[in-house]
Amino acid sequence: MKILLIGSTGQLGREIIKSSPNDIFLITPSRLEFDLNNTKKCFEYVLNLSPDWIINSGAFTNVERAEIEEELAYKINALGPQILAKALSKSGGKLLQISTDYVFNGRQNYPYKTDQTVSPINKYGFSKAKGEEYIQQYLPGNNQSNILRTSWLVGPNGNNFALKIMKLLNDRDEIKVIYDQISSPTTTISLADAIWNIINKNEEYSRKNKFFPVISHFCNDGVASWYDFAVTIREIGLKTGLIKKAGEIIPIKSNEFPSKTERPKYSVLDTQKTKKIIGLKNSHWRNELLKCFNNSSIKI
Ligand SMILES: NC(=O)c1ccc[n+]([C@@H]2O[C@H](COP(=O)([O-])OP(=O)(O)OC[C@H]3O[C@@H](n4cnc5c(N)ncnc54)[C@H](OP(=O)(O)O)[C@@H]3O)[C@@H](O)[C@H]2O)c1
Repeated sequence: MKILLIGSTGQLGREIIKSSPNDIFLITPSRLEFDLNNTKKCFEYVLNLSPDWIINSGAFTNVERAEIEEELAYKINALGPQILAKALSKSGGKLLQISTDYVFNGRQNYPYKTDQTVSPINKYGFSKAKGEEYIQQYLPGNNQSNILRTSWLVGPNGNNFALKIMKLLNDRDEIKVIYDQISSPTTTISLADAIWNIINKNEEYSRKNKFFPVISHFCNDGVASWYDFAVTIREIGLKTGLIKKAGEIIPIKSNEFPSKTERPKYSVLDTQKTKKIIGLKNSHWRNELLKCFNNSSIKI
């Protein structure tokens, strides 16, 4: 199977490459070779390659900057997936688009189901929700549209919350972290595994002429505030030697944090249906976090 991976240099992209099965021919262009902002070139690239699948892990992911660079975020996160879907509607392959809990407003206090209407409250969430909409519009059948939402991604490399907290704790005696936003921390390692399972299951469903759900939710189990998450990161950092001293972590409210972006207060995704379909065992985010950082090659 020929799979085009976009966003191969990102924290998730790198884990997708590492965990790629042997029978997959994975093509991993850099942003220079495949720029989602250059829709004409992307369209031609996909038509020429004619992949069986595209995994789109490429995105404008800086939530703060998306408020200021709204147009660019929209181009990459909404018009990028749109052009991928348009090209695949001609060439016939399938798309797996990585999306986010930030397509929801976070104003309910129970987990969001896959069939709930999106309701973004910031520019990043809006651009990602539009991307989802375009994909469903241009790839309406044959199990071609696959939107996989996840939340609070961290992993052994890249620009993520866990590595940032460890670095801050190594540099400072105290840090302040928000406790009134809640979601499910998820490791890139476990998400990459879920991605390969979804592709497999979708192919199996297609062979049996069965409908595979367009929207899937995958996160590690359990929930946390950023504060709880940071406290566990400190615990694991000390245990694994990645943190040298136990600095203080002070809980603060969102309105005490200097940010111009509104973020969902409770964006937990309901993952039960997806995990049942793809046959993945439950695993708490703390266990996944420990597995992820129990690795001597990590540099803080
Ligand atoms: N991080 C989270 O907490 C989180 C939560 C929920 C969902 N997600 C979603 O998960 C996916 C992966 O996120 P991540 O955390 O791995 O992000 P990341 O580490 O920021 O990586 C983003 C990737 O997108 C690429 N990219 C950026 N602009 C591009 C463009 N114009 N054309 C082509 N590629 C471009 C980057 O390339 P360069 O290396 O060249 O910049 C990088 O490879 C994204 O769809 C994101 O929306 C993330």
